[in-house]
Amino acid sequence: MCRYSICKVSVLDNNIAKNIANVFSSIDIEFSTIDNSNNETNYLAEWLVPNKNRINHFWIAKNRYNQIIGVAILKYKNTIIDPNSARVDIRVLKKYRKKGLGKELLIELCNFASLINRNKFTSRTNKQSHSHYFLRKIGALQKDITIGKTLDLKNVNPKMLNLTIGNDYRLVKWENEAKGTNLTDLVKAKHFLNDMPSGSRESVSWVFSENWVIQEEKTRKVATELWYTYLLYHKNMVIGYSDVDFYEGNKTAYQIDTAIHPDYRNKGFGKFLKARIINDIINENKGIKYIRTFNSSSNHSMNRINSEFGFIESIFYSKWIVNLDIVIEKLNKYEKI
Ligand SMILES: CC(C)(COP(=O)(O)OP(=O)(O)OC[C@H]1O[C@@H](n2cnc3c(N)ncnc32)[C@H](O)[C@@H]1OP(=O)(O)O)[C@@H](O)C(=O)NCCC(=O)NCCS
Repeated sequence: MCRYSICKVSVLDNNIAKNIANVFSSIDIEFSTIDNSNNETNYLAEWLVPNKNRINHFWIAKNRYNQIIGVAILKYKNTIIDPNSARVDIRVLKKYRKKGLGKELLIELCNFASLINRNKFTSRTNKQSHSHYFLRKIGALQKDITIGKTLDLKNVNPKMLNLTIGNDYRLVKWENEAKGTNLTDLVKAKHFLNDMPSGSRESVSWVFSENWVIQEEKTRKVATELWYTYLLYHKNMVIGYSDVDFYEGNKTAYQIDTAIHPDYRNKGFGKFLKARIINDIINENKGIKYIRTFNSSSNHSMNRINSEFGFIESIFYSKWIVNLDIVIEKLNKYEKI
């Protein structure tokens, strides 16, 4: 007797999206720690709105009452970053675990991934998650831990907000999409991310282009109402950048990237950029109470900077990586047991 059915979906309607969100929110820390339901809707909007740069495929498992009980998602971007890799998320409701459903969802996903040549998978789990056993069984390696951090603006270290830079340096800030020279210089600054410590990344250098940034920003606009980008210059040379996202009605701002030219590191510029963002948020008085950020646990420099400002570690994600052929080999063995 068939206890459940699995079907593949490429474009979600609102109802299915909400049901999937329920499956995720009941078990996935990524959703359950979000302060406000608005944000979840924004996240879903990213999935729903067709965007040629961000592609998602869903496999949905339903029980005989037509309720969604599990989901597998293969996500990737048409981007220069790891063109053959894809992020994999599999979630099964607690009651339906250990019955082989996760494995079946994964088989469907793998069959499809091999057809489209996405042969390297990454995944992300809560540090304490039970899915670690599952990921180990399919041959995934735990590569890195990302630490999510929260700064309560009531507790920001005031000394860090008075940082200044010399007369030779200047800051440029704008809202939303980069255009003209801002765009050209942002592309240059993105390259400073290349030596960011991250165990889950291949040691290839990313080559960013204007077109890539334009596509990324289109995707960003779907989810984010407003973002600021800051570029730091020494004379006429761009030497650093940072950015922050705001979501409508949310008390939390999300500080995304900070990157400094390798020749200018450890001179206080990273801290200066963060201080500027925090000062702007305080002075603009938008009702923001918290700032969230995240970095790899092996990014010692960023760990130091964030803790000096008063960011508190609030969540830990494990990053996993595995090649498709290994998953298929493990799944075949699995079936023989
Ligand atoms: C992370 C980064 C933005 C920091 O910028 P920066 O201008 O060098 O930062 P600052 O000079 O303001 O501060 C660096 C602090 O880290 C400390 N630091 C540097 N290396 C360290 C290490 N291995 N262990 C501990 N602390 C370290 C410095 O001593 C300094 O702290 P101090 O002033 O209290 O002594 C920069 O290193 C960078 O661009 N890295 C590549 C991109 C990246 O990783 N971005 C972050 C993504 S989350």
